[in-house]
Amino acid sequence: MLSNSSNENDPQWQNSLDINIPSFTISAAGKVLFKDAQFNISHGRRYGLVGPNGKGKSTLLKMIASKDLILPPRVDFLYVEQEVEADNTPAVDAVLRADKIRWNLLEEEKTLSAAIDAGDEDPKKFSRLQEVLDELNTIGASAAEAKARRILFGLGFDGEMQTKPTKMFSGGWRMRISLARALFIEPTLLMLDEPTNHLDLDAVIWLDNYLLGWKKTLLIVSHDQDFLNSVCDEILHIEDLKLASYRGNYDSFKKAEATKLKQQQKDWEKQESVYVNSNVRAILRQRQRRRSKRTSVSRVHVVLRNKGSYCIGQDTAAMKELIKRPRDTLFKSTFQMLRAFAPSDGGEPGCLQILRETSCHFQPH
Ligand SMILES: Nc1ncnc2c1ncn2[C@@H]1O[C@H](COP(=O)(O)OP(=O)(O)O)[C@@H](O)[C@H]1O
Ligand SMILES: [Mg+2]
Repeated sequence: MLSNSSNENDPQWQNSLDINIPSFTISAAGKVLFKDAQFNISHGRRYGLVGPNGKGKSTLLKMIASKDLILPPRVDFLYVEQEVEADNTPAVDAVLRADKIRWNLLEEEKTLSAAIDAGDEDPKKFSRLQEVLDELNTIGASAAEAKARRILFGLGFDGEMQTKPTKMFSGGWRMRISLARALFIEPTLLMLDEPTNHLDLDAVIWLDNYLLGWKKTLLIVSHDQDFLNSVCDEILHIEDLKLASYRGNYDSFKKAEATKLKQQQKDWEKQESVYVNSNVRAILRQRQRRRSKRTSVSRVHVVLRNKGSYCIGQDTAAMKELIKRPRDTLFKSTFQMLRAFAPSDGGEPGCLQILRETSCHFQPH
């Protein structure tokens, strides 16, 4: 389920290559993934989309690809998700075919030339052939094959492999062909989901370099921090069902996030100390008043906590928003005792105990 608002009558929206969606909400299988989130992308920047697993990174890309999340009409996009079909098409043709305009012009050129060679003297065919040749020239069609081959080579396909039919390749290699197609057609917004998963080190290094020269917009989901560091100049991090934007690469994001979490922790601790101190003061005063037989509750200084807000004293009009405890950068867990397996031969009870009072720390990302 998705909701987002776009202004189709807004000329700025119609002409924009930037993407500014002020609010969108996505739920999947009854779980809210994004709520009133903003999606702001500037043309020509390279974004890394990060966040813990299951938070909705792939779902967001899929929603864009399926046009459920509506982008400005001038932003053509491509989401590399599936491997190319396994059939008789040579790998290089599978890439070249991605450029439908060029491919169709070439097909038309072949048909017209064959007819003329066979003796057809229809002047319309002659003039159309000239038009087709002009168009092919304008789009630089003759350079396309060299470009497709260069990309395939970078992704690990030698000359012989490039001519092999796609059905001869495994899923992983067909995924590389799919990636090559996307790099070949250069959409305005290219979305890659874990692109390095299918690549060996040489291909990762090549892709890294290739994307550094990318002039259009990239949105990349990857767990490969080195890759994100090298390629991305902005990070979008999923936090509190929103997309928080951090300028710089992955390392800059981690630093900025740590500073932000530290500040949130300080604010939260300050709030907690106000709360605790005020309650302690309230209890002391209550005791003092009881002793002096003055029991008017209305003068007691108390802290009220109520659904995400608090106030000190009885003045509920002065309710302040309660700062949520920031999520820990470290997830800590202490096992009192872990009985992971029970020997079927009924061995010593001591053998069952494999961990005792052991602390585990998990670093997210
Ligand atoms: N088609 C679907 N059916 C059921 N649950 C889905 C579907 N798509 C996504 N989800 C749920 O949405 C959440 C986000 O998934 P996903 O976008 O794949 O996360 P990420 O890519 O960040 O790891 C997960 O909890 C997943 O179980
Ligand atoms: Mg995913």
